Amino acid sequence: MITPIILSGGSGTRLWPLSRQLRPKQFLPIVGNDTLFQETVQRLHGIEGLQPPFVICNEDHRFMVAEQLQALGLQAQGILLEPVGRNTAPAIALAALRLLQQNQADAVMLVLPADHVIHDAPAFHQAVIQAAQAAYNGHLVTFGIVPHCAETGYGYIRHGEPLADSAGYRVAAFVEKPDQSTAAAYLESGHYLWNSGMFLFRADYFLKELADYAPDVLSACETALANAKSDSDFIRLDSVAFAACPAISVDYAVMEKTARAVVIPLDAGWNDVGAWSAVWEVGQADHNGNVIRGDALTHNANNNLIYTEHRLVSLVGVDNLVVVETKDATLVAHRDQVQDVKHIVGQLQARQ
Ligand code: GDD
Ligand code: MG
Repeated sequence: MITPIILSGGSGTRLWPLSRQLRPKQFLPIVGNDTLFQETVQRLHGIEGLQPPFVICNEDHRFMVAEQLQALGLQAQGILLEPVGRNTAPAIALAALRLLQQNQADAVMLVLPADHVIHDAPAFHQAVIQAAQAAYNGHLVTFGIVPHCAETGYGYIRHGEPLADSAGYRVAAFVEKPDQSTAAAYLESGHYLWNSGMFLFRADYFLKELADYAPDVLSACETALANAKSDSDFIRLDSVAFAACPAISVDYAVMEKTARAVVIPLDAGWNDVGAWSAVWEVGQADHNGNVIRGDALTHNANNNLIYTEHRLVSLVGVDNLVVVETKDATLVAHRDQVQDVKHIVGQLQARQ
């Protein structure tokens, strides 16, 4: 039995001005007609033995999650509502503890960020099926992507020898978000894969590792769930207990430390749609390399991303720009510097 765990609590600040606090990128149709969240859930269709998903999101987004699932005719096993974000280790811990409460300690959890794009769903399914045996045997599986640049926003995995009892490789080293020179050396060595941030492991084995490496996260989540209140599909965590939980990602809390980590290579057109440059990469370009969503005209303009909601936008004689027009804000950025959009969000927050 595989239970999808959809992590939907991120704020997506680098996709401002489209992604906002009340409507972050996972709930927007950034790439296709459906939202990234809906695509994440739909992509699973066809994997055998799959249970309905658990969704973990911020309390403020509960109706969006419920409506977006309903629009697909799907129902979650439960929607865990966080009063505040505490990063991914607590979010995953809550889902694992919930499975324990339901006497499913040996359930295999397929942990999926709600904001990734995967072009080749059958290849992804294949990797999940391969990984399931390793997960069942007690390994904590991550899916590894062959790197094509020295990206510092990802975890890096050095793979060791192949497993004897199932597909996959031991993780010889897991380094979360290395600095620029380390990332460049990893890329050059050819021995590293990117951590995709998608995981497969049994609830009981994950909780065992969490008890060893982040016991304070585990105990705060236990209390927050023990005192939670259910209301139809929604499970409202105890806000005082959860506020006391340390904020830490699963990568730092468990994956960097555990000896149970294994990696399954994944070649399925994966992209984490972290910044506007990634939206350009995954989009359908015209013959000038321009990716256009909305109403736009171009002349002598190449390799731009234009995203419009209300107005016609025209570009003349400019290349490699990102232009995003929304009702109350417009972004014009160089495609190489879109990571810095978060600084604009910072300035806006300082204004409030
Ligand atoms: N429910 C919940 N609560 N979800 C969260 C929270 C939270 O507090 N924080 C983040 N998430 C969700 C985000 O929405 C996203 O879908 C996913 O968890 C991962 O969080 P990110 O904040 O996007 O992580 P990252 O991109 O910096 O790093 C991770 O992903 C990379 C690949 O995209 C790491 O796993 C890296 O090692 C990895 O390379
Ligand atoms: Mg991410």
